[in-house]
Amino acid sequence: RTRRPLIAGNWKMNGLRADGLALAKGVADGVKQAGWSDRDVLVCPPATLVLAVAEAVKGSGVLVGGENCHAKANGAHTGEIAAEMLHDCGATYVIVGHSERRADCGETDAIVRAKAEAAWRAGLVPIVCIGETLAEREAGKTLSVLETQLKGSVPAGSTAANLVVAYEPVWAIGTGKTPTTPEVAAAHAHIRKVLGGLTGEAAQFRLLYGGSVKGSNAAELLAAGDVDGALVGGASLKADEFLAIAKAA
Ligand code: G3H
Repeated sequence: RTRRPLIAGNWKMNGLRADGLALAKGVADGVKQAGWSDRDVLVCPPATLVLAVAEAVKGSGVLVGGENCHAKANGAHTGEIAAEMLHDCGATYVIVGHSERRADCGETDAIVRAKAEAAWRAGLVPIVCIGETLAEREAGKTLSVLETQLKGSVPAGSTAANLVVAYEPVWAIGTGKTPTTPEVAAAHAHIRKVLGGLTGEAAQFRLLYGGSVKGSNAAELLAAGDVDGALVGGASLKADEFLAIAKAA
């Protein structure tokens, strides 16, 4: 493999302090024990736990990220979290444009792009999420939807070192359904091609697959062409299951 796999856990709106810290510690212990030097393992807890999780995993090699950030650096945005605040708490990555936020919070491609740029200003690597709905897939629009989202969400100046793309078919998130391996490979190949046109250097970009990844299907999904890791939701809430996915990378 030329690209270093990244296995990222998105805890979403789950985890009180006791559970979250136990989970973080379980992941950290497993990663330390495994002694991997050839892959990255990232956990993205809710904002209330970023600081405590970063402290709990210190020294283990486990990376910490936020689930979202605001596009502005600071100011009168009640309830929002600035990228620099995440960085200040020990985060090095931040998920932007998750389909749940696109749907629930009206995040457009332009907003997602602005958030990715805000992440850079704070020294974070954004994980930009894209993916088609079931209706779009059934209408045969998957690749064109991905292309539109990439063109709108990926800022100028993106490189393989400063940005990660996650492909998450909306219909595969939390449903137990996944695309077939060839479908995943086709989507990722197209994403890499479009990124190539946008940045001129697509070969090294890390592209994650997300949507119902679990220990038992991780090896197959991660072996699909152009897949460099996973963005894991539900299965990242159990240390053993998440570690099994990281092991499969
Ligand atoms: O960000 C993670 C994804 O939305 C996947 O969630 O693994 O629970 O399907 P899931």
